[in-house]
Amino acid sequence: MSVPHACHPPARLKRSWTSRRCLVSWVATLALSSLPAVAADPPDSLMAALTLQGDPARGKAAFDNCIGCHRKDASGRAADPIPRLSGQHASVIIKQVSDIRGGRRINDPMKPYVDGAAMDAQTLADIAGYLQALPMSGTLGKGPGTDLERGKSLFERDCAGCHGARGEGIAEAFHPMLAAQHYRYLLREMQLIRDGNRGNSNPAMVQLVKTYPPADLEAVADYLSQLPPSVKPR
Ligand code: HEC
Ligand code: HEC
Repeated sequence: MSVPHACHPPARLKRSWTSRRCLVSWVATLALSSLPAVAADPPDSLMAALTLQGDPARGKAAFDNCIGCHRKDASGRAADPIPRLSGQHASVIIKQVSDIRGGRRINDPMKPYVDGAAMDAQTLADIAGYLQALPMSGTLGKGPGTDLERGKSLFERDCAGCHGARGEGIAEAFHPMLAAQHYRYLLREMQLIRDGNRGNSNPAMVQLVKTYPPADLEAVADYLSQLPPSVKPR
């Protein structure tokens, strides 16, 4: 994974400052800046997974703990708000698991599965590497398809700058892929984001989504749920 923007180490550290350290510091800054003002929680050590090489075979075995909810093929569930994880950017998986464990994103049912010592940075790197490379399969819940033109124009106007023109996300910036995600999950997350109940949400996105009436939230979620995953994530 490359870091797109410059990282300026203090001069005296220049020799030992490897790109890996640069990435870690950049990630720590980013994680801190996305914390709500009240949270005193330091960035979770799980973010170190970003600097580790994942082993997909070990990741597949470790993902066995997750399949009760996310399914064996990681396609999630259409009726319950459980996201598809197959094909999602490894960086997004790592950040979200880290945020869930750190309480920055509330997810009580899942928390026990990522809280224990069994979930360390290497295990998370393995799982994220496995999921990112996993081909998307299974049934993906789609919306009613009634207002797709409106959903498309809203997405292109307001969201594509951060989530990519085809909803493919931006791995380096931790912006999730939204294309081909379950409709109910997308809608629920947008409602949580709008109401300030998804603690790790990008503040600019919150301001934007707050202006959306329910019909527009539905139209965008519907459009995204029907969008094919046209760009292979890195
Ligand atoms: C008890 C059910 C349950 C189990 C077990 C579970 N999850 Fe989850 N997971 C959820 C739910 C529900 C959500 C969505 C919560 C929300 O709406 O914010 C979620 C969300 C996620 C997300 C965020 C995805 C995104 O697009 O933001 C990731 C990553 C994730 N889970 C990974 C895992 C991993 C890895 C494991 C196993 C170690 C696991 N989950 C086990 C229920 C579960
Ligand atoms: C300024 C950048 C930005 C804009 C604009 C933006 N988003 Fe986001 N969005 C993010 C980031 C960053 C996240 C991940 C939150 C985090 O973990 O910090 C996210 C997460 C999401 C999620 C949760 C995805 C998941 O897998 O759980 C949804 C849904 C979403 N955005 C929808 C939208 C929609 C719809 C719009 C347009 C109305 C939009 N976003 C505009 C940056 C943005």
